Formats: sequence, structure tokens, C-alpha cells
Amino acid sequence: MQVLSQLPQITDPNVLVGVGTVDDAGVYRLTDEIALVQTVDFFTPVVDEPHAFGEIAVANALSDVYAMGGKPIVAMNIVAFPTTTLPISILAEILRGGAEKAGEAGVVIIGGHSIDDPEPKYGLAVSGIVHPERIVTNAGARPGDQLILTKPLGVGIITTAIKRALATPEMTRQVVGLMATLNKTAADAMLEVGVHACTDVTGFGLLGHLFELCVASGVGAEVYLDDVPVLPETWGLASRDVVPGGTRSNLRFLDGKVTWQTDIKEFERLVLADAQTSGGLLIAVPADKTDAILRALRVRGTPAAARVGAVVAGEPGQIAVRRR
Ligand code: CO
Ligand code: CO
Ligand code: CO
Repeated sequence: MQVLSQLPQITDPNVLVGVGTVDDAGVYRLTDEIALVQTVDFFTPVVDEPHAFGEIAVANALSDVYAMGGKPIVAMNIVAFPTTTLPISILAEILRGGAEKAGEAGVVIIGGHSIDDPEPKYGLAVSGIVHPERIVTNAGARPGDQLILTKPLGVGIITTAIKRALATPEMTRQVVGLMATLNKTAADAMLEVGVHACTDVTGFGLLGHLFELCVASGVGAEVYLDDVPVLPETWGLASRDVVPGGTRSNLRFLDGKVTWQTDIKEFERLVLADAQTSGGLLIAVPADKTDAILRALRVRGTPAAARVGAVVAGEPGQIAVRRR
């Protein structure tokens, strides 16, 4: 964010990951063995069902801790709710969904804050821990690494279809389940195998977050369109222009940063740029550990376990997309 550059510089040596980099969470060393991982995330409802919204908001907020290789421990609710126009039972359902998802993650919600607001919003401020020498940032990717994705794309496009009443109940059920899936097991697999870099795929889409990872790591990347896992129906919806505004601006942002194999169509580009809510982890793993991480992910049943590309030497942030 541009305004952050105007803040005073951080000089505390215990700040291991701060605002100076575009990483998923801040990390602060407490002792030689333990660093605190902190992140906050909240948003307006992405689905109509309050309980599911609560689950998704919590899975999404915890994801940034998992992306750093951390273990989330405690959290605080952040709530905005129009108490005069909506029944309070809706808020109760949101919070129940959130508390259940936090419980699944082994995270305790120990407080929070709410304000009256015409538009409901929910999320968490999360505190986790990580060993100071085992932080997984987005800056460690090296040429030759393979890129692994742990959830299929298409969440932004499918949720737009839901809003336009174009989604089947089956599509809705599937996308809600996907967004509510914790990245915990994906992170467990990543830590077991040992990786170079990781970030989670959220609002900037696969290519936007890959771009950030590449810039932070000083590398380029290639992505193989045919190998990217995508929710069924996404391609068809994208080709019929069912695409959220955020996805379109993501693709515009990538102009000049991504080179496309010429036969890759506009709707296919939009899918790779699709803004995700609570997307999967994007992991850069040394090539000789590719099979090991794919196996570790599959054993744990992550929604996807796919090699989607590779890290290459070159202009930092330059991405080439080809079919395979
Ligand atoms: Co993130
Ligand atoms: Co975030
Ligand atoms: Co990270």
C-alpha cells in the first residue's frame, strides 16, 4: 500500500518481517526459539448464508499465518453489524461459524470488538507462533523451484455467478466448502517437506500473488495453463463474461508483467487473474522435492495438489504463461 511508505521506518531488530516487504503477515522475535506472527483480515459477506460467511472469514484470516509457516494460536473477532436493520440472530450465526472454524484450527477466540455499521463485516486479528529460523516468506524462491498450488481457482468467478443467480446449488456448495477449507493441512505438508517460499492466493489472484513472490525473490516464473486446477464451470462462466471487477483490474495490473502464449484467450487470462477469497497456498519448492510435496498434500487431502509452473532466472516479476 502506497501510504505505508510514508510511515516512520522500523529499526527494531526483533522485527523479522515487517511492512518493508509485501508478505502475508508480520513476524516479531520474542525469544531465540519463538517469534510472534500477526495478521488481520476482515471483509463484507461473500455468501448469503451467515454461518458459512463466518467460517470463510476465519479460514481466510488464518491463512496468512499458515503461509508464513506459522501456527495460529489465539484471535480476536472484528465485527461490523447493522443492529437496527438486521436481526441479531444473523450476527450470532456468523460468530458461531467463525468460532467453529477457529476450533477446527485449534485457535481460541479470546475477545474482539464490534461497531454498528450499515454493511456487515467480519474477520479476525490473529496471533500465531513460528520458530525464527523457520519462517517461510515470499522472498526465498530460486530459479529451478517448482510452483505448487493447493486449491483450485475460480472462486471469484463462481461467487459472481451466485450473485447473478447463475450458479447451481451444487456449484454454490462446492465453492463455499472450498473457501471454508483451512490451509492448515497444506501448511503441514509444506513444513514436513521443507520449501523455499510461500504465499496464499487471495484478492490479487494466482498471477498477482505470483508476481509479488517473484519480485520479493528477485526471480521470474513460468506458468502452465493446462496444469492449473480450476473449479468446473469457471471457464464457461468466464467465457460468458461472468467475471468480478476485481479480477478485471488484476488482469490490467499484470499488463507488461506477464507474457502470454498468443493462443491463450482473454477469458483464460481472466481465470488465472481471478480474485480469490480464502484461496490456496502457492509454494515454491526445490525441484527434487516436487514429488514429495505433491504426495504430502495428497495424503492430507488438500483440495488441489498441482504443479502449476516453475521459477526461472530473469527479470524479477516477469511471468510467462504457456499452455504446458
Ligand atoms: Co496473504
Ligand atoms: Co491477508
Ligand atoms: Co509468507
